[in-house]
Amino acid sequence: MNTNTKWWQKSVIYEVYPRSFKDSNGDGIGDLAGLVSKLDYIQSLGVDAIWLGPVFKSPQDDNGYDISDYQDIDPLFGNLEDMKTLLREANARDIRIIVDMVLNHTSDEHPWFVEAKSGRDNPKHDWYVWRDGEPGCPPNEMRSCFGGSAWEYVPELGQYYLHQYSVKQPDLNWDNPEVRQALFDMMNWWADQGAGGFRLDVIDSVAKEPDKMITAEGTNLHKYIKEMSAAVFQGRDLVVVGECWSATPETAKLWSNPDGSELSMVFQFEHIVLDQQPGKDKWDLAPLPMAKLKKVIAKWQQELNGKGWNSLFWENHDVPRIVSRWGNDKEYREKSAKMLATILFGLQGTPYIFQGQELGMTNACYELEEYRDIEIRNIAAERLAEGYTMESIMESIHAKGRDNARTPMQWNAGENAGFTTGEPWLKINPNYTEINVEAQEADPHSVLNYYRYLVALRKREDVFVDGDYQEILTEREDVIAYSRDNGSRKLTVVTNFTGETVDFPAEILENAGEPELCNYSDWPVDGKLRPYEARMYLK
Ligand code: NOJ
Repeated sequence: MNTNTKWWQKSVIYEVYPRSFKDSNGDGIGDLAGLVSKLDYIQSLGVDAIWLGPVFKSPQDDNGYDISDYQDIDPLFGNLEDMKTLLREANARDIRIIVDMVLNHTSDEHPWFVEAKSGRDNPKHDWYVWRDGEPGCPPNEMRSCFGGSAWEYVPELGQYYLHQYSVKQPDLNWDNPEVRQALFDMMNWWADQGAGGFRLDVIDSVAKEPDKMITAEGTNLHKYIKEMSAAVFQGRDLVVVGECWSATPETAKLWSNPDGSELSMVFQFEHIVLDQQPGKDKWDLAPLPMAKLKKVIAKWQQELNGKGWNSLFWENHDVPRIVSRWGNDKEYREKSAKMLATILFGLQGTPYIFQGQELGMTNACYELEEYRDIEIRNIAAERLAEGYTMESIMESIHAKGRDNARTPMQWNAGENAGFTTGEPWLKINPNYTEINVEAQEADPHSVLNYYRYLVALRKREDVFVDGDYQEILTEREDVIAYSRDNGSRKLTVVTNFTGETVDFPAEILENAGEPELCNYSDWPVDGKLRPYEARMYLK
């Protein structure tokens, strides 16, 4: 193994969405004390760090991605003492806490914005992005990611402010050096409290140029990120992951330059947005184009090798459950959940497990009124007004709505899945009686125990970190197979991405070395792969 390997390159990260993880006080919302009570479980997965979704003070318009105080905890989740307990207890288990930093925008209830809005002459006015205008005539056509215009009029000022997300999430003006300094000071404070790293929310949007309709990769973006790195990250042993929807392999090499001048790694979505109609948004569904998925995986693997670092993920709190999306959440739920895990964990990068993914949790299929997410509510209203049928709107929400991944964690088959003693803030997926931690702990062949094996395997073998990537059977759309080679070890990963038995050349397996892992109980080499079969070999 290369002596320059960083700890986070050998790590696996577990994402906790705090309000859905574990409630300790019966208010139906997960909290910090609940999370602390489940740290032994997280440790048992073998992961090295927790990406903790935002727990800061917030009106919760976008479940905490609208922060009104970066240095305090929202009472829903506890208080600063609880956060210190979490940091201490996690560190005692060798688990670092990655704090979710929302730096592109604040809540409109943040004192900075309240001041900014109080008058054009207020010193904080320029901390946000304003344009003069007349009511009903926004500066341009920019759209909010949650639907509608990205501009909101403030009559007292005769000005519009920019919000790339909800009206309650005004964009900060990063071109003002005071804004950058205030954010860097705050991040240094969190690092001093013992944070092990940061996840930077939509960080590629901070250097926006709204007059040119530029949101991502603005002219000054990498200058500002380098400034942040020098002010906060350098000289500290942090992991910093940037959520970058716009990243290409070229820009990812800047973001995750091994010289450490920007961040540790990118979190990019090129594979995740494939099942939508080209040029449309995620709600305009299309079948997953397998040939494209394979190309995208190969491209990122090959282009970043030695030049940058990627996050490996199928799920997070913004995207649906992978087993429902690209696997089969009915008769092959366990097999396909394991198959998808095998593909992901064989690749180069840092794998992320989103809470419940390790159980093969599935999408929820609720009535519109049962969802809580602002994005779901907005898109439903917008599309109804545009004349879409309710049926097509619900089909899109069932496939892509963010609440699919946000249903409470399924701990056991008891009341409310062991998540809360109160009324859960979002309905629990009724399949919790079958799919839950307790049941899977007891089953050596569960999805949960398969994930544990994969995490341990990655720790054991350096080839996961530094092996190069060779695709096998490039033209086939029913299998994903590849090898990774670091000169001393060779890993071969072979998967059937379908619910049918498919042909697979026996000689590839005969030459692949020792069988290491399979999601079936035997390993025949008979020129076939069974439905959703996945194998790993090491030589
Ligand atoms: C990305 C976050 O992951 C998402 O949940 C949030 O709504 C937006 N950024 C806005 O902060």
